[in-house]
Amino acid sequence: MNKEKDILILGIESSCDDTSASVVKNGILLSNIIAGQKVHEAYGGVVPELASRAHQQNIIPVVDQAIKQAGVRTEDITAIAFTRGPGLLGSLLVGTSFAKGFSLATGAPMIEINHLQAHVLAHFIQEKDQPYDPPKFPFLCLLVSGGNSQIIKVNDYLDMEVIGQTIDDAAGEAFDKCAKVMGLPYPGGPFVDKLAKEGNPDAFQFAKPRIQNFDYSFSGLKTSFLYFLRDRLKENENFIEERKADLCASLQKTIIDILLDKLVKAAKETGIKEISVAGGVSANSGLRNALIETAAKRHWKMHIPKFAFTTDNAAMIAMTGHFKYLKGEFVGMDAVPFARMDIRV
Ligand code: KG4
Repeated sequence: MNKEKDILILGIESSCDDTSASVVKNGILLSNIIAGQKVHEAYGGVVPELASRAHQQNIIPVVDQAIKQAGVRTEDITAIAFTRGPGLLGSLLVGTSFAKGFSLATGAPMIEINHLQAHVLAHFIQEKDQPYDPPKFPFLCLLVSGGNSQIIKVNDYLDMEVIGQTIDDAAGEAFDKCAKVMGLPYPGGPFVDKLAKEGNPDAFQFAKPRIQNFDYSFSGLKTSFLYFLRDRLKENENFIEERKADLCASLQKTIIDILLDKLVKAAKETGIKEISVAGGVSANSGLRNALIETAAKRHWKMHIPKFAFTTDNAAMIAMTGHFKYLKGEFVGMDAVPFARMDIRV
């Protein structure tokens, strides 16, 4: 009797270079399978054509594993949620086409998901027998990833406003591009994080932007970092190798200071003390520590997601799918992916 009422959402994520599938049952996570793509490492960045080919190879085994691990049957899936955008068009097409095929074959309706909304709603992923203390509305979310740096005011599950955003590069891009200049592998963010732990964050100073409102800018920092290295390398060709840990620690500190400066301002001006962080860069240990310290000082209730839910994953897609299912928000076979999408869509 009860079984018929279960809401089983299959989530599909394929917006960039991770193919992921997840099953959420009545809002509780049952599985979250992620296949990364090593093929891009040799190129220092994601190659869109290679990404979509890898998604095509990965998607069926990944979905199969997610369904098996969840211990459910394909025919029991209530609805299929897929990332519609933003992301790489060819990559998104693989997930969208898969969702259509699955929907046609099983009769499960389709739910389109905005990837940015899903990052924010990663805070609501509930795991069996795990503590669950999601943010209360309204809350602010610092969304920091390879493609975005935004401060979002979250009024409800599907009601979000961007109150600040980068006018050029994202924080993740600043990490990755500066890491590349230092000869670190792609994506450089996690390498900078690791090396920063052994360095002095006050060894070097880099340019910080003077931008209005709650907006961000990271292109000046990238240029300042590049010129600084160019000048130092003229004096000592081993400068990067000799001072890599200090360079990483100072770069990381500058990025964190820039991010926190506007977040503190936004919290002050909106009066909101329920604060969260999401997106790939929220895996950064320095940022996590700085957020915890700031929260203690400013009496914020801080919400930091588990590592597994910070980078791209289908658990957040299935979870968002669950909320949209409850609101009856489905799409038809004419649904198409969008490379660019605002968080409100
Ligand atoms: O959200 P995400 O997985 O996907 C995209 O935006 O595509 O974010 C990826 C970004 C990359 O720029 C990566 O370098 C950064 O997140 N990142 C980190 C760390 N882990 C991932 N940046 C700094 N420290 C980390 N530990």
